[in-house]
Amino acid sequence: MVDPKDKTPENKVSPATRQYPDTAAQMKQDPPTTGHSWDGIEEYDNPMPRWWVWIFIITIVWSFGYWIAYPAWPGIQSATSGILGYSSRANVAQDIAEFEARNESFFVQLVESDLDEIRDNDELHRFAVNAGGSVFRAQCSQCHGAGGAGVQASGFPNLLDDDWLWGGTMEDIHLTVRYGIRNEDFLDARWSEMPAFGRDGLLNNDEIDQVVNHVLSLSGSDHDAAQAAEGAELFEINCASCHGDGGEGDYFIGAPALNNQVWLYGGTPEAIRESIYYSRFGVMPGFAGRLREAEIRAVAAYVHQLGGGQ
Ligand code: HEC
Ligand code: HEC
Repeated sequence: MVDPKDKTPENKVSPATRQYPDTAAQMKQDPPTTGHSWDGIEEYDNPMPRWWVWIFIITIVWSFGYWIAYPAWPGIQSATSGILGYSSRANVAQDIAEFEARNESFFVQLVESDLDEIRDNDELHRFAVNAGGSVFRAQCSQCHGAGGAGVQASGFPNLLDDDWLWGGTMEDIHLTVRYGIRNEDFLDARWSEMPAFGRDGLLNNDEIDQVVNHVLSLSGSDHDAAQAAEGAELFEINCASCHGDGGEGDYFIGAPALNNQVWLYGGTPEAIRESIYYSRFGVMPGFAGRLREAEIRAVAAYVHQLGGGQ
């Protein structure tokens, strides 16, 4: 027998000298070969199975139909459009239009409802909170944080708590978002200005120290009692008109409460001193014109249900 691994020319088997193990009868039944031979393996010359050939022909015929019916051949500007007029881009546009039509009825309802009624209509409220959430992520989170917790170092207030500068009813929040705070773009923007008591020389450094200690005492923080007592009268004269006699704050002019541990700019003696010395003047843009009224209402509903809504 020939060793099939032996590739020397002497051992190369030609079809003529090869020995078949088959019987003569079997050999007669074998189909013709193509004449190719690799290491003694020969290739039968069988026709393709008929089912395979049919499928092959059908796919070719199908492809002609497809070229005619659907967009197929790329051109310079666009592809051939096909007689069925199919376009995946048009389909997406249609889906979007359908979605918008479905949402539109909610948007109309939002604008037509009383702000307080939005909460009473479960379906509308759910829609408003969802839509408002995406408005918030796109328009508000860069300042107020993705979850609405604010950034104290920058004076961006926490919207999750029930401590409000300008009020936490739907009405209040809606107005704040619509026109913003201390911006020049809207006459209706919320506005107030705390004097810069130190920089503008309204109080001297000693007086400011006293009033800082009084503010610390109002909030229940560590303080110098003697200084705080000195500061009480200064507070009454200079500060109470905005912050209230006991530091309870005033929504009407956005004056923060000073009698709790929630701070817009920080509750350390240094931060409080800075607030009093320079004042702060936090600015928020208004969204009328930048957002649709329905979106403003939706984001107001979203903020309202974050936890602190009144
Ligand atoms: C450029 C930063 C900025 C953006 C953007 C911004 N805000 Fe404000 N927001 C502020 C600042 C600063 C204040 C506090 C101003 C002050 O001192 O009274 C504020 C205050 C508020 C208040 C009042 C909080 C209170 O206690 O009364 C609400 C409500 C509010 N923002 C909601 C929003 C919503 C909703 C959006 C998005 C549609 C938004 N803000 C976008 C900076 C921003
Ligand atoms: C005209 C009204 C007004 C007067 C008067 C005023 N404030 Fe304010 N105060 C504000 C407003 C409004 C803010 C909000 C901060 C801003 O401007 O962004 C504020 C903020 C503060 C803060 C920062 C609070 C925080 O949460 O970080 C402190 C502290 C403060 N005031 C103390 C005082 C003291 C003390 C006086 C008196 C010496 C005083 N204010 C007088 C309106 C006033």
